[in-house]
Amino acid sequence: MNSRYKRVAAVTIALFAFSCDKSDDQKATHAYDANKGKAVYAVHCQSCHGEAGSGDGFMGSKTATKPRNYKEEGFYYGSDFAAIRKTIKKGIVQNGMPAFDSILSEEELNAVSMYIRNTLGL
Ligand code: HEC
Repeated sequence: MNSRYKRVAAVTIALFAFSCDKSDDQKATHAYDANKGKAVYAVHCQSCHGEAGSGDGFMGSKTATKPRNYKEEGFYYGSDFAAIRKTIKKGIVQNGMPAFDSILSEEELNAVSMYIRNTLGL
């Protein structure tokens, strides 16, 4: 009897820990401010990527590689939140995509990654 209770308690604790992990993850991917994402994009990204993410910003034709049209061509470097965030953070410097890790805060990185994925992406 006693050990059965212990087992139930252990399972409950494990489930609780698991659900905490999950909600942290959801916080990272879903808690973001869409207006902030849009504002960061307008200041730091639009000049190359264009207002709608189609790669037609005025500087988009001057980079080593033309930025892709997110809606029509998708994301070559990965389309989930983590991949997009990593691309933005580290850049693809040799092709003309700057690294933003020393320019944007973690919160701004989250917001602009979600904005690109949810609003401008496929
Ligand atoms: C100086 C021009 C320039 C600026 C500014 C710029 N980018 Fe880029 N970006 C590029 C180019 C060029 C590519 C394409 C690189 C390639 O295809 O190898 C690219 C690629 C990307 C990709 C990868 C797309 C894919 O196909 O996977 C993402 C995501 C991205 N940029 C997001 C951003 C965000 C967010 C900002 C602003 C915080 C930003 N970029 C600012 C030029 C720029």
